[in-house]
Amino acid sequence: MKIISKTGLFGSDFVFLKKINSTNLFLKEKLAQQKKNFLKNGTTVWAWEQTQGYGRYNRKWQSQNGKTATFSFLLESFFFKKQSNNFILSCHLNQIIALTIVLFLKKQFNIKAEIKFPNDVYVNKKKICGILIENISEKKNDYCIVGIGLNLFSLQNDDFCSIEKEKKNSTKISFSFIFKELLNDLQDAFFFYCQNDYFFFKKKINNHQMILNKEVIFYQDEEKQHGKIIAINDDFSLLVKTLSKKQINVFYDDRCQINL
Ligand code: BTN
Repeated sequence: MKIISKTGLFGSDFVFLKKINSTNLFLKEKLAQQKKNFLKNGTTVWAWEQTQGYGRYNRKWQSQNGKTATFSFLLESFFFKKQSNNFILSCHLNQIIALTIVLFLKKQFNIKAEIKFPNDVYVNKKKICGILIENISEKKNDYCIVGIGLNLFSLQNDDFCSIEKEKKNSTKISFSFIFKELLNDLQDAFFFYCQNDYFFFKKKINNHQMILNKEVIFYQDEEKQHGKIIAINDDFSLLVKTLSKKQINVFYDDRCQINL
């Protein structure tokens, strides 16, 4: 498959695998094995089948063969060197990728999707896409491995939705179309981010953010608390109004539950 890339970031090195444990693991292993900095910025790995796909907090990511677009790409952090630390960089990338996917689904399939902070895209309260960013240091270089699982065709699991189920136009769903168009859109977004700032995405991201004004359950000093999410702060903590009307900052973790 030839990727026509305007800027040359993605597609210069592209691997298609029929079956692999996980596309993120594949890139991690290749990074660890390489003698010099051999893997190019933007190297992209796409798999038909993943046997050990995973998401945040090591949760199992289930996908049915050929029904979900499962792919990962490598980004060298120097590319985004303006960012002060890896945590902020991966939060920015997570939100920018989620926004790009929301806009892509609207443009190509007339699907109204939303960003579910911190790393998912939802349609009608069901997950259509998950994003996993891992920061890796290897041979004195810092990398982000970005994994994306986007459901193209209907799955058996009712917690998920797919482009096939939600699309509102007659555009055909094909792997090569999704791959080429989505990678180009992501590439454009990354270049825009490098040349400008996260600030330029912030308003648009907030306009598509589904967790604002939603109820959240979180833990503070091991105590279960309830509140309402008012905003996402610049350090990516949540600004929450508690039941006692106090405003506090809460860092999202695996125990946070947001009632959508
Ligand atoms: C999540 O839901 O927390 C993120 C899911 C990310 C899944 C993708 S599929 C391609 C890549 N390979 C993996 O093992 N995970 C990511």
